[in-house]
Amino acid sequence: MPFRAGPFRLLAGLQPLDLQDWIEIDGQFASELAEKERLLRERHHEVFAVFPEALASSMEVLELLAAHLPMRFPTLYRDEGDLLCNLVTQQRWSLSQQVLHPLDLAGRLVQEDLCLMRHDLVTDTYRLVGASLCFPTRWRLVEKMGHALTAIHAPVAGYEEQLAVTVDRFFDRLKVEKPVWRLNWGLIDDPALFQPTGHGRQEVNPDITAENAGEKLWIRMERQTLRRLPRTQDVLFTIRVHVRPLHELRAHPERADTLASALRNMPEPTRLYKSLSPFLDAVLPWLERIGNKT
Ligand code: HEM
Repeated sequence: MPFRAGPFRLLAGLQPLDLQDWIEIDGQFASELAEKERLLRERHHEVFAVFPEALASSMEVLELLAAHLPMRFPTLYRDEGDLLCNLVTQQRWSLSQQVLHPLDLAGRLVQEDLCLMRHDLVTDTYRLVGASLCFPTRWRLVEKMGHALTAIHAPVAGYEEQLAVTVDRFFDRLKVEKPVWRLNWGLIDDPALFQPTGHGRQEVNPDITAENAGEKLWIRMERQTLRRLPRTQDVLFTIRVHVRPLHELRAHPERADTLASALRNMPEPTRLYKSLSPFLDAVLPWLERIGNKT
């Protein structure tokens, strides 16, 4: 569980990543890959974008995945020379094919979304130069393409004051052999994976009450990884979304207490950014009821 009890602090929360755990696969593998295929077919321009300058690092990402996946998950992927086979979906991809952009193909292989950040010499910042982004948590790819880290995070309450310098410095110093991971979390009243909008909602949702909040809300977590690519030196940012029903906390009263504490201690601008206002007055009593009441 990603939330912490006690006073609120906006933290980078970066942890060392063992590259064996770079990619996560779970029971939603087939359904999430199918959802990606649907989004890429029906709204390609919203979920995929890439600048020409990201071609080399896109190919590098595809090569890294093609080497990693069959080795790490031999029951799910098979390496057949130029062909990479997904044994679950029965897809067979030619790695040298010219039909899909290599970053587009890379995004179809895994549940993760993939974003490429490239250092810009003129501004000395890292800019978003390409992404396969089917499961955004309330942002639109077209609005962020080409922007630097601080501009990308402009809507995030407290980011510029509390995190921007740390994150920029981290990007400058990130070493190929020291990848990291981190988590973001939120509570949502819609379990859809593709959520391009929804920050700053203030209206109360009358359908959510202290009795039914567990059944009407979900915890949405993002497990993110960051690694510098050895050949091109661009940075690959992966985002893996997990959506779990809030009622699962009934089995974990201590986690319900922690979440209630995290929500109570959250500053108002952060609550607003995370769109908690529609159901905060319902979810707090629900959590208190199932918690340990410590
Ligand atoms: C060390 C690296 C990073 C840190 C510490 C960080 C931190 C954060 C935090 C705290 C949030 C707010 C999450 C929430 O409360 O819901 C956020 C949102 C976001 N982050 Fe990052 N982030 C990092 C890297 C990146 C990178 C590389 C990208 C590139 C695409 C990115 C894109 C975003 C976007 C698009 C949002 C949502 C912004 C919006 O609401 O418009 N982040 N990030």
